[in-house]
Amino acid sequence: MKIIEGSASKKISNDLSKVLNVSVVKLERKRFPDGELYVRLMDDVSDEDVIIVQTTFPDEKIIELFLLMDAVKEAKANSITVVAPYFGYARQDQKFKDGEPISARAIAKLISLNTDFFVTVDPHKEYILDFFDCEAKSCSAVSAIAEHLKTKDVDMILAPDKGALNRAKKAASIIGCDFDYMEKTRIDGETVEIKPKNLDAKNKNVAIVDDIISTGGTMAKSIQQLKKNGANKVFAACTHGLFAKNAVEKLKSNGCDEIISTDTIENDFSIVKTATVMKKILSNQSL
Ligand code: R5P
Repeated sequence: MKIIEGSASKKISNDLSKVLNVSVVKLERKRFPDGELYVRLMDDVSDEDVIIVQTTFPDEKIIELFLLMDAVKEAKANSITVVAPYFGYARQDQKFKDGEPISARAIAKLISLNTDFFVTVDPHKEYILDFFDCEAKSCSAVSAIAEHLKTKDVDMILAPDKGALNRAKKAASIIGCDFDYMEKTRIDGETVEIKPKNLDAKNKNVAIVDDIISTGGTMAKSIQQLKKNGANKVFAACTHGLFAKNAVEKLKSNGCDEIISTDTIENDFSIVKTATVMKKILSNQSL
């Protein structure tokens, strides 16, 4: 087995090579004068089971993934597993308005062309795995996030909406603390409304746990409610930290004490590692 490190997922690739005890393939990667990407495998992968690790965000990383997949196929690997720690476009998982694409399906179909097995972490909705024509599985980073939160003296986990309730319940059971949820309505891509709610948060340290922080709007509204209800420290924790636009500033200015995300998207807050949660699914896979 060999690992190919996509440029969006260098740290996870390295961690996975350690936990799976497999080597990372050397790559040449450069840009043509017009900006197009060039990749070349510098090690032999013929007859190998190859794992390509690449978060499909931002868009240019999707192109890189397709080039890597094609190079591996050309090199006559035995099998190709694509690990997309964060599967971008997953939230456009249906047509919300006439004329729209189902973007998650469009990307999934293209990945499936050269892939035997697809793995991702905490997809926004599990059913997007059905869009793949190859075998596709997900694993959850909630336990890794909860283990990290255990060091923070957290009294309560809050789900910012009902969709995140199971995640909050699981984290709370690992930590051994209470949990609650908010009721959110999404107005548009950048605006959410959260119903005022009395939360038993007075003097408590609360961690809000969600799958994604994008604009930070969902977290910011939840933090406001917690502060109104007298919360002490507030942690904003997520699997995928996109931090679009001024999200970090928004969280901090609303009173967030600490931002925590996993390494599915590498950034300043990605301190929770996910390689071990992927290990089981990858080593059990008989290729
Ligand atoms: C939505 O259902 C997701 O679980 C997240 O709550 C959402 O994607 C976060 O987006 P934003 O940070 O822009 O509010």
